[in-house]
Amino acid sequence: MAEVKEIKEIKEILVTGGAGYIGSAVVEGLLKRYIGSKIVVLDNLSKGKIEFVGPAFLNCKDKVEIIKADLRDENVIEEVFQRHKIDTVIHLGAIVDAFTTNRPGKDLECKQVNYEATITLAELAKKYGVGVFVYQSSVSVYSVGEELKEEDEKSPISAYGQYKLMGEKILELADGDFKVVVLRPATVFGYSPGFRYETVINLFAVRAFYGLKLPVFKQALDNNKSYLGIHDNVKAILFALENVDKFNQQVFNVLSFNTNLRNILNVVEEVFGELDINLIDSANVSQQVYTISGEKFYNRGFKPTSSLKTEILRIKKYLGEYGKMVDNQKLF
Ligand SMILES: NC(=O)c1ccc[n+]([C@@H]2O[C@H](COP(=O)([O-])OP(=O)(O)OC[C@H]3O[C@@H](n4cnc5c(N)ncnc54)[C@H](O)[C@@H]3O)[C@@H](O)[C@H]2O)c1
Repeated sequence: MAEVKEIKEIKEILVTGGAGYIGSAVVEGLLKRYIGSKIVVLDNLSKGKIEFVGPAFLNCKDKVEIIKADLRDENVIEEVFQRHKIDTVIHLGAIVDAFTTNRPGKDLECKQVNYEATITLAELAKKYGVGVFVYQSSVSVYSVGEELKEEDEKSPISAYGQYKLMGEKILELADGDFKVVVLRPATVFGYSPGFRYETVINLFAVRAFYGLKLPVFKQALDNNKSYLGIHDNVKAILFALENVDKFNQQVFNVLSFNTNLRNILNVVEEVFGELDINLIDSANVSQQVYTISGEKFYNRGFKPTSSLKTEILRIKKYLGEYGKMVDNQKLF
């Protein structure tokens, strides 16, 4: 059973993007951990959904409030800080799909949300006496390389990565009263209440479950990439919150492990049985070698525990339950 620890100092936690894939798991984790705290979820529900926070919300109505608002609406954000006594912010709200953000129009939205609104949010948080601000940046701030460290050169290839990196400028606002920690998670995988399957492990698991062909870029089979299990992502955020005095004004890469497509396919096959693989013999940007080093965070005590197999098994369980639910609905 998960350790339950009440941190009395945290009264109200604002989770932006809390109705999304990672946010819904973070809200669940916060409710378990900080049983005396109130969670305010702010999300414009462009990608997130109220039902993703639903289970947490229904079980703890007095502890979770969902506000549908756009991060770019400065007045509304200010009102949220005026109405609530927020002392901690976990900032996850963002335009996320890395490669669509290079399209004209989407790149502008990405700039406004991932960069400008991040700076404004942090400025307002500081103005209204928030003590801790955890910002989830991304490994997309790097481009190509192996075992990339936090201080290594950054040349993001997507507007998403570029504006995530610019959002990290909030570190300049940090001081003894306003503590800021920036996390750079690797590609996140695994089941959450807001489960989505746009990235490779989740996508392969879903396609394998339904017996669909798995598109695999041949040249990418043996290239290592860094991944972060969703449970480790939640754990990393809690770890940052609980060690904020030591981590203030710092950036940390966060990953569970590095692996390649061949290994992912082997584990997916172990869980789902023989796969129908469509090997594609053409170049793709995701074939780049791209791993990060998690040494800095590990050396400060962070211990990832998510494994490829356990998270894929959880996805299978979830898809199984969802299937049953659909069948049940047919009965009525
Ligand atoms: N998924 C990954 O692999 C991954 C990896 C590294 C970092 N991240 C970061 O983690 C965070 C959460 O990502 P996710 O995968 O859960 O994506 P997601 O799209 O599921 O979550 C983002 C949430 O932000 C909300 N949002 C978008 N624009 C908004 C706006 N203008 N105002 C208010 N809310 C808005 C969306 O509705 C969504 O619920 C993001 O900051 C992302 O950059 C994700």
